[in-house]
Amino acid sequence: MKTATTDQPAKELATMQAIVQDAYGEAEDVLRLEQIDRPAIGDSEVLLRVHAGGVDRGVWHLVTGLPYPVRLAGYGVRAPKTRVRGREVAGRVEAIGKDVTAFQVGDEVFGIAEGAFAEYACAQPGKLARRPETLTAIQAAAVSVSALTALQAVRDHGHLQAGQKVLVIGASGGVGTFAVQIAKAYGAEVTGVCSTTKMDLVESIGADHVIDYTRADIADGAHRYDVILDAGGNRPLRQLRGALTPRGSLVIVGGETGGRWLGGFDRSLRAPVLSRFVGPPSATCKQVRLAGRSSLISAADQVHWRCHRDAMGLGDAGRVWVLTRADL
Ligand SMILES: NC(=O)c1ccc[n+]([C@@H]2O[C@H](COP(=O)([O-])OP(=O)(O)OC[C@H]3O[C@@H](n4cnc5c(N)ncnc54)[C@H](OP(=O)(O)O)[C@@H]3O)[C@@H](O)[C@H]2O)c1
Repeated sequence: MKTATTDQPAKELATMQAIVQDAYGEAEDVLRLEQIDRPAIGDSEVLLRVHAGGVDRGVWHLVTGLPYPVRLAGYGVRAPKTRVRGREVAGRVEAIGKDVTAFQVGDEVFGIAEGAFAEYACAQPGKLARRPETLTAIQAAAVSVSALTALQAVRDHGHLQAGQKVLVIGASGGVGTFAVQIAKAYGAEVTGVCSTTKMDLVESIGADHVIDYTRADIADGAHRYDVILDAGGNRPLRQLRGALTPRGSLVIVGGETGGRWLGGFDRSLRAPVLSRFVGPPSATCKQVRLAGRSSLISAADQVHWRCHRDAMGLGDAGRVWVLTRADL
């Protein structure tokens, strides 16, 4: 990407390169690079020079518009309302609104911004933190959405305690890799579930046991868990409940195999209802997804610093990167 200099025409200074989309579809069909206007910031906002943007699973949902309820959640029914995707970000503060006191121009930061797949993006100061020198921009850009989700699942919804047994389904994914490490940091005995080729990865980030879901059943009757964090597949609630201890908790983070209409979301609706009827001594079902991704992101203000501190030292989630700048 080009860096704007004072020799360049004013129009080019006011514009930027961005990856845009005007229709829902697969990334290779609908995403393209375009020169567009730089975002304008409000009095309480920060303009970032983007160094790296992370691709979390939510990006795929918004690019494809799937499952369909995503479109009804305000992103645009027939076509995306906003053209630039990307939320996980690391970059340098380029400009600040007059009411911003938390950051100064030149600060290296990371966190959540709208439209991170561009040279510049607009962010709320409460969703940013200073980037520690120990993290590269590329590493930092992978933290925000996935690690916040993992932290909320482990701590706020799972209420995980030291010594408890936790099953992380989807342990090799964006959320699961953070969940395994945060659960270990909380002193739990962690069993990770993933496919054959990712078993080494899940073991390397600290899981005590690893189950290959292509070869073994998670509910074998022999093992029961105090907390199950479900971030992969679309297992029936009955099966998940069968793997819980009598007072265990199920936290449904998400799943990708539930079809174009519900995407597995129906389990999040049914789980709290089921929980009322099965009551103690059976399982309680909790879920994160009902709150929705946007709620999680707005909740970032409260858990922001804690999350970054907790997740930061825990390692790189092994994610896919886009828009890295060679000169920064
Ligand atoms: N509630 C929220 O606000 C929120 C926030 C972030 C994410 N999410 C949702 O949470 C889910 C996970 O997100 P992510 O970013 O971690 O996704 P991801 O990076 O795509 O990871 C998916 C994980 O699921 C595993 N998996 C796939 N099929 C499975 C099966 N049949 N049984 C067990 N595991 C299976 C994958 O394992 P292998 O790769 O080894 O096959 C991988 O570990 C997604 O549905 C996402 O939309 C929700």
